[in-house]
Amino acid sequence: MRTLPVILDVDTGVDDALALLFAVKHPAIDIRAITCVAGNAPLGQVVDNTLRVLDAVDAPLIPVAAGASRPLLAPARSASHVHGENGLGGIELPATRRKPEGVGAVELMRRTLMGSDERITLVALAPQTNLALLLRTYPEVTDRIERIVFMGGSAGVGNATAVAEFNVWHDPEAASIVLSSGVPIFMYGLDVFTQVSVPQDAAAALAAGNDPLGRVVGSLLGNRIALSEDESLVYTGLIGDAGAVCALVEPDALVVEKRPVRVELSGYGRGQTIVDRRRYSGEDRLHGGIGDWTVIDIALDVDASRYADLFLETLDLAG
Ligand code: RIB
Ligand code: CA
Repeated sequence: MRTLPVILDVDTGVDDALALLFAVKHPAIDIRAITCVAGNAPLGQVVDNTLRVLDAVDAPLIPVAAGASRPLLAPARSASHVHGENGLGGIELPATRRKPEGVGAVELMRRTLMGSDERITLVALAPQTNLALLLRTYPEVTDRIERIVFMGGSAGVGNATAVAEFNVWHDPEAASIVLSSGVPIFMYGLDVFTQVSVPQDAAAALAAGNDPLGRVVGSLLGNRIALSEDESLVYTGLIGDAGAVCALVEPDALVVEKRPVRVELSGYGRGQTIVDRRRYSGEDRLHGGIGDWTVIDIALDVDASRYADLFLETLDLAG
């Protein structure tokens, strides 16, 4: 029985596609709406990719809406070096007859939240521009949100920069607005995101197999994100954003701590989620310069193979 109502905010994207497939197939997840934002690819491409992915998994007619085409302040910067020119690693899914809603993402989120007789979990798998615009335009929705689960940030190293993760780096002001919204927040950051992968031979077998969904999943998993001339530093098999959706249904596979967090908005560290893991007050608190921190739940470790297995089993691709 679908007991967990969610709105997914995506920048589809190779791993957003994996997250969408998982969310549609998992029996507990009740997708009420999907909203799109520029990030991995330009907005129009994100919307088209999202609709095509929903077709690939024969999803029900879930409302999908287009949102922000760029961050609040910074210019849009695609991640084609990671997700390819078409945002899906070059994988060509069949054209779709699905159409986005005639309203924008913020309006679709507002009416979905206000029209629900139960609180809804917002799952942000992309730059948080849509969420920030929603919270600023319609603050009354905050008590209709169960919590915000976001893929983003890092308590350690970054990916977009040495210290910043792509989603937060792409729109740090938006992430800061979401953090200060008063809504309970759960961060699924790079600390766990980079751990959960499917072995390359399993992905290759799916890509070459007879199952149409398996071929799509295997091809997406096999997207080679070359981060370096050194072929050994290529990310492959990551389920990426799908791990944040796994966290909705099996949170006990994670090590989670409540920690103060802030988003750096200037300098080289712009977009960094600074996580205070000290177990004592330092000079900053003693001298009053603590700044605007928010205490949130942060996933700091994961039973990676459990999420990889959950992902494949839910898609009925476990072999
Ligand atoms: O840093 C990884 C995140 O940025 C993922 O959500 C990926 O899809 C991109 O949006
Ligand atoms: Ca994403």
